Amino acid sequence: MRQTSQHGQWTSRFAFILAATGSAVGLGNIWKFPYIAGENGGGAFVLIYLVCILAIGLPIMIAEIMLGRRGRQSPINSMRDLAVEAGASRFWSWLGWLGVVAGFLILSYYSVIAGWAMAYVVRVASGVFEGVTADGVSNIFGQLIADPEKLLAWHSLFMIVTMLVVARGVKGLERTVKFLMPALLAILILLVGYAMEQDAFEQGVLFLFQADFSKVTSEAVLTAMGHAFFTLSLGMGAIMVYGSYLPRKVSIGSTAVMIALADTVVALLAGLAIFPIVFANGLEPGSGPGLIFQTLPIAFGHMAYGSIFGTLFFILLVFAAWSSSISLIEPAVAWLVENKRMSRMRACIWVGLATWGLGIGTVLSFNLTADIKLFDKTFFDILDYLTANIMLPLGGFSIAIFAGWVMSKENSASELQIKSPILFNGWLFLVKFVSPIAVAVVFLNAIDVI
Ligand code: PFF
Repeated sequence: MRQTSQHGQWTSRFAFILAATGSAVGLGNIWKFPYIAGENGGGAFVLIYLVCILAIGLPIMIAEIMLGRRGRQSPINSMRDLAVEAGASRFWSWLGWLGVVAGFLILSYYSVIAGWAMAYVVRVASGVFEGVTADGVSNIFGQLIADPEKLLAWHSLFMIVTMLVVARGVKGLERTVKFLMPALLAILILLVGYAMEQDAFEQGVLFLFQADFSKVTSEAVLTAMGHAFFTLSLGMGAIMVYGSYLPRKVSIGSTAVMIALADTVVALLAGLAIFPIVFANGLEPGSGPGLIFQTLPIAFGHMAYGSIFGTLFFILLVFAAWSSSISLIEPAVAWLVENKRMSRMRACIWVGLATWGLGIGTVLSFNLTADIKLFDKTFFDILDYLTANIMLPLGGFSIAIFAGWVMSKENSASELQIKSPILFNGWLFLVKFVSPIAVAVVFLNAIDVI
């Protein structure tokens, strides 16, 4: 097998942890997790999500990094070569294709939401939220998403900055994420501190952690599982392609544990910051994608130096989205460079333009085409459902099958270098049986087959 990737290599284990954590921690943790937890009744949903992270997400993350490091190319080419090495069909490369398409679809709407965060940097900095009421915040949010031209402008700007980083290659990715994560964590802790001072803090905590399973539907379980994939960036080759830049000697298992842990802590902190504010202001926890944009500004509007902290928070949110978006598109760019002999720059321009174009569909789905629905879903809802609830679980399921059943045990053992046989066999058991069966059951249950 190849020793290094033609695209370069992370300079250290720490750099990989930062980049992969940068990919995992993003809008999924701070924007999506709170609103889907709110829509699905809180505690029980959160518990199912945590079980999914541990029993399905973590073993698949280890598998995905392992496949990337052994394949050392874009997910499409890595899967083909690994399949050949294992004596299986070259068609396994379709798994790489599934990932490329999923990444493209996700980035097209991810960039629009990141655009909201950018727009909020300007709004918070201008002081419009100072002393604001819950109604006032809702109006400001409503005005933003009703304006397609503004959304398009922010979406365009976000796509440009994303493609600029990707164009610079692995080194560019590394430099971007180095300062980001610690700063984001610090400001989230500050926000939790504010939430703790609210009378409704306890209510928020109970909402997030008190499990009432009577509210859980099979659809909610699928959403929780899909989100476990989404938040850990799994099932679409992003973590695989980052794994392909990982130096040989780095231990994959312990690294994956750190990434999953960091990701989970950030999501829970975001929930702890948001729900007390929701309840303290009589807001609706299930109010959908606008949730953080209609709650956090209230906190910033009422705390000392709120405009400064608020501006900083939304800047960091944009950065968190940025370090995730670059990984969404890296599999496609790496493939174009490998197979079409394109320069990185050219590949970025093509993929960036296509993603930007599709993003216009999401921009309009919040205003002009908001009433055009298929199965009661807008264009944005459909993309979100298709990617998080179908494509990522399908990709994750296939990665588990490949790592557990197709790749030889000798090869996975030599790649993972897990010293304890109990831990290695535990991982193998999870990817062979637990993860694929769990994904299949949850999925079939949600579409009413079983
Ligand atoms: N994990 C990112 C988040 O939680 O915002 C989103 C994401 C990035 C999903 C990369 C998938 C991916 F490949």
